[in-house]
Amino acid sequence: MVAKMSITGPRGTYDILPDESRKWQWLEGLLRETAELYGFREIRTPVFEHTELFQRGVGETTDIVQKEMYTFADKARRSLTLRPEGTASCARAFIQHQIYNQPQPVKWYYLGPMFRYDRPQAGRYRQFHQFGAEVFGSNNPFVDAELIVMMVDMVFKAGLPQYDLRLNSVGCETCRPSYRQALVSFLQPIKKELCQDCRKRIELNPLRVLDCKNQGCREAVTGLPRVADYWCNDCRQHFTAVTQSLDRYEVSYTVDDRLVRGLDYYTNTAFELLVPGIGAQNAIGGGGRYNHLVREVGGPDVPGIGFAIGLERLLSGVEEAGALPVFSPDIEVYIAVTGREYEASADQALRELRRAGLKADRDYMGRSLKAQMRQADRLQVPVVVLIGEDEATRGTYTIRRMQTKEQYEIGQADLIDEVRKILVK
Ligand code: HAM
Repeated sequence: MVAKMSITGPRGTYDILPDESRKWQWLEGLLRETAELYGFREIRTPVFEHTELFQRGVGETTDIVQKEMYTFADKARRSLTLRPEGTASCARAFIQHQIYNQPQPVKWYYLGPMFRYDRPQAGRYRQFHQFGAEVFGSNNPFVDAELIVMMVDMVFKAGLPQYDLRLNSVGCETCRPSYRQALVSFLQPIKKELCQDCRKRIELNPLRVLDCKNQGCREAVTGLPRVADYWCNDCRQHFTAVTQSLDRYEVSYTVDDRLVRGLDYYTNTAFELLVPGIGAQNAIGGGGRYNHLVREVGGPDVPGIGFAIGLERLLSGVEEAGALPVFSPDIEVYIAVTGREYEASADQALRELRRAGLKADRDYMGRSLKAQMRQADRLQVPVVVLIGEDEATRGTYTIRRMQTKEQYEIGQADLIDEVRKILVK
């Protein structure tokens, strides 16, 4: 017996049907435009990379690399992975194309699907979409501030004025080892109180214990050493400069010394943007500095910083807030004919309209005139052009303005001007 084929998409994935895709186009357009206002240019990288890139870039001990990657062998037995995030790919492209030889900093943005084998729930998918921005080549704290301001600007423009921006510094290569050691010394004696994951993290990546969501761990780690007490002078100055710059931009933030983020490449500044009202997965975006990622994945030691916004979460926040714009109708002009013999005239009118840049369509189902009008209504078309016997003999079209139900005849040569006038285009 042949097994029945599954006709649902894989778990954790979803379709964006045409009724939804207008929202995506709007959101993506807004993000692109804003990024370009800040001097960012688009980069498009492949959706799969050599597995090693993420192992070295994102980090062997992270949840992403340990549990969440879609890794497969291709026919030549190379290990490839569907990208779980975009930063490592950007670093790879930065090295491969020797972009470090160009004037710095380099500002890139990207939009596209990412893949993580995570437990699906509201706001968490296995294929999801990110807008990301990366700046390579500068360790200037004002770059950190500018990026954060851009992220806030994007969320604001999308219609979410209320946000909670969390800010921290996770230290650098100089000061983090001593902080790490302090954490290990604190955590070892209370190991038994921690969850299985955190017990392993003590040796592998003790900073990650700080943001474990497990209630037991949260209680156990109160009173943990604070990273700020271990910052070196450079880290302290950098963080102060970032906060001062944010103050000048009048962007509010909360310093959160528990914020460590889930990827290993971060150094210094780390941040996350939370939005109320979208459920448990309320982190709309996050990012931070990664001053040694480029070196880690095989390039020169060039600093960088970036962030990514989860588009599903941002869009659901916008919908929740009722902030979606009203979209103009997909079709602007609908041609209705009273009989098959007028279809050639309908095609002629369609061709003219489309050449003039107007979105036009007609009936192909042999509907009655009444049914064609109903279809025009359903499509929320503002203008219908009626073609029947009278119009054909007189060389005219009848225009119907759907909003006012007004109907009148025009000369065929006036079609485009008349429609434009109605649409105010
Ligand atoms: P991330 O915090 O892993 O950072 O992801 C950024 C955003 O992507 C999250 O805040 C969330 O909105 C969204 N996101 C993550 N996983 C999922 C999921 N399974 N379903 C839906 N949305 C999700 C990064 O990816 C870093 N590459 C950000 C970065 C760029 N850091 C420096 N440059």
